[in-house]
Order: sequence, then C-alpha cells, then structure tokens
Amino acid sequence: MGCPGTRPLSVPMLLLLLLPLLLVNGEQRAELLSPFFGTKSRYEELHPHLLRDPLSLGRPLSGFPLPPASCTPLQLSAVVRHGTRFPTRKQIEKLARLHGLLLRRGDGSGGGGRCSVAERLSGWEMWYQPEVDGKLAPKGSRDMSSLAKRLASRFPSLLAPGRRLAFTSSSKHRCVESSDAFREGLRQALYGRMSEGRKNGEFGPTTTRLFPNAWPWVIAIVHERSKPISSPVIIQFGHAETLQPLLSLMGYFKDKVPLNASNYRHQSKRKFRTGRIVPYAANLLFVLYHCEQAKSPKDEYKVQILLNEKLLPFTYSGKKVSLYSKLKNHYQFSLQNCEFAKVCSIDEKCPRINS
Ligand SMILES: *[C@@H]1O[C@H](CO)[C@@H](O)[C@H](O)[C@H]1NC(C)=O
Repeated sequence: MGCPGTRPLSVPMLLLLLLPLLLVNGEQRAELLSPFFGTKSRYEELHPHLLRDPLSLGRPLSGFPLPPASCTPLQLSAVVRHGTRFPTRKQIEKLARLHGLLLRRGDGSGGGGRCSVAERLSGWEMWYQPEVDGKLAPKGSRDMSSLAKRLASRFPSLLAPGRRLAFTSSSKHRCVESSDAFREGLRQALYGRMSEGRKNGEFGPTTTRLFPNAWPWVIAIVHERSKPISSPVIIQFGHAETLQPLLSLMGYFKDKVPLNASNYRHQSKRKFRTGRIVPYAANLLFVLYHCEQAKSPKDEYKVQILLNEKLLPFTYSGKKVSLYSKLKNHYQFSLQNCEFAKVCSIDEKCPRINS
C-alpha cells in the first residue's frame, strides 16, 4: 500500500478500496467500486440502462410474457427487498471512528509516516448522522417508485386500476417506507400524478400488513393453489436476508466448490454473488398463468419466475416456464415441512398501518 505505520488491518484495506474514489469522477467511481459492495450494490449494476432512464424496460425479454393468445397472467406474487438505505447506526459509528483515526494521523500527532491517500480521505466530510440508522434513503424511495412503474408496464393486466392488491412488509422502517414509496409509484402509474387527495381506495384494502419476523412468510408464494385467488397481486417487502435464503432454499446460485477465504481468487466467476442477486430493490416475481386449450387440467397453470426483472430458469428443467404442478412437486418437501401457520402466526394486535 505504501502507507507506513498503518497498524489496524482494516485501514489499509479500506484505503485500498477507496483509492479509486480519488482518481476518477462520479460515474467511473461508482463502476470501479461496485464489485465490492455485496448486498449494498445498486440495482443499476444489473440494468445499466436504468441510469439513463429509470422507467425503461430495456430490451424485450425473450420468452416473457407467455404468448397472450394462449396464456393470461392470473397472479403476480412478488418479494421485494427495500430500496437503497443509509448505513446503520453501528456502521456510522465505526465510520466515524475510522475517520477520526485518519484525521489524527493527518495532523502528524498520530505517529507513522505520511500517506497521501489517507491525507486526502481525511479531507472528506463525515456527514452521516447516527439518526439515519438504516432508514430508507431518498434514492431508495426512487428505487421503489420506479420499480412499481416498470412492473405496471410489464404486467398491465394485473397492475391495473381497480385491481385488488395485497401488501405485506417486514416491520422494519425501511421496508414499510419502501412499501409506501412503491404504492405511491404505482398510484402515479395507474392514476396519473393527480393522486394527492385520493390516496385511499384505489388498491382495495389500504393496509400494509406488518410482520415482525423478516423471513419465514415468504414461503407463502408457492402456497396451496386450490383456493380461488383473492388478490391477483401480492407484494411483500423484506430484506436481502429474506430473498437470499429463499433463493438458496429453491436451489439457486449453488457453486460446486464452496467459497472460502483461501479460494477467493479462483472463485471470481462464482454464481453466489450477492451483489448481483440481492442488490437494493432486488425483486423476485412469481407469475402464474392460466392457459387455454391445455391438454389436461394440470397443464392449465404455468409459472414463470423473474429475478430482478430477468427470467430465472427453473433449477429442475433449465427452462424459463414450468407447469405449476411441476413446481409444486419439486418443492413439495419445503412446502410440506413448512409449518406456515405456526411460524407465521400473527398476533391479532399486530400493528397495521394506513397508507
Ligand atoms: C477452501 O476450499 C478449497 C477448495 O477449493 C479446499 O481445498 C480448502 O481446504 C478450503 N479451505 C478451508 C480453510 O476450508
């Protein structure tokens, strides 16, 4: 590193990461740094065209949707990670300590030699306040609002005026706020910008149901399909730790060789890259179709899965569409061994919020 006397390992490491920041301008800066951000990556890394136009759908997806003449979307079930958030209080305190260390070194009293990177970094204004503690950032609201508008374009028959939509959310502030921003985006997409005074009533029930536990309820997605569909659209807001375990349970992004500290370099092409699987605003969509002219009743229902607005092939077939019955069969073990009612039993006094 060329920084003499930097004892705590984390400082040179951090400097190494931040070095590119000092050399280039904003956009290049973000590009250079983005591979290191893991789950704190921005959604735009997956869809760079969104940097130019957040509402653009990009190139058409081959194979999506299923041909409208034969199959119509019946239900959309989405699990959405909250949008871009601020660092948590703990991280901010750490950052402040690290920054303090740099400042003390900079004034020559901290011992050690000179390091130009450290000096330049110490000129950075440490503007994070502990109060922003993990809250949704303004960019996070925009992530959600734009996602809602894109989904409204992708699923015009389901996300349509007057449709009954169901929202659930983890009780964390950033998820509830994400749900609000998403709904506002959707409202604008469906009813135009003059939505102010008519906040209630468009989406059927206007409550977001809150879940104190972040993850178990996601299994509801592949839940028994025997009942009539009460909501054609179900949107659930959670965390990276909601989506990643679900995807792992479903068998996605498994590498033959497990990642560990000693093989990190050889694993640069690994499938399990959280920054590309669950960046901010990550979304996993299950689309259930009803298909006319099916050979038999079990061929009537088909499913497609989209992860971050790209078709996700089914693990058991490699195909981008599956019979619903096959999907249910394949995940039978997880479905039957999930004590959904027990794990997710909700106290009736559980808080509900109005939009
Ligand atoms: C890391 O993985 C490699 C296989 O790629 C294995 O040979 C090695 O023993 C593992 N190291 C540790 C510490 O588990």
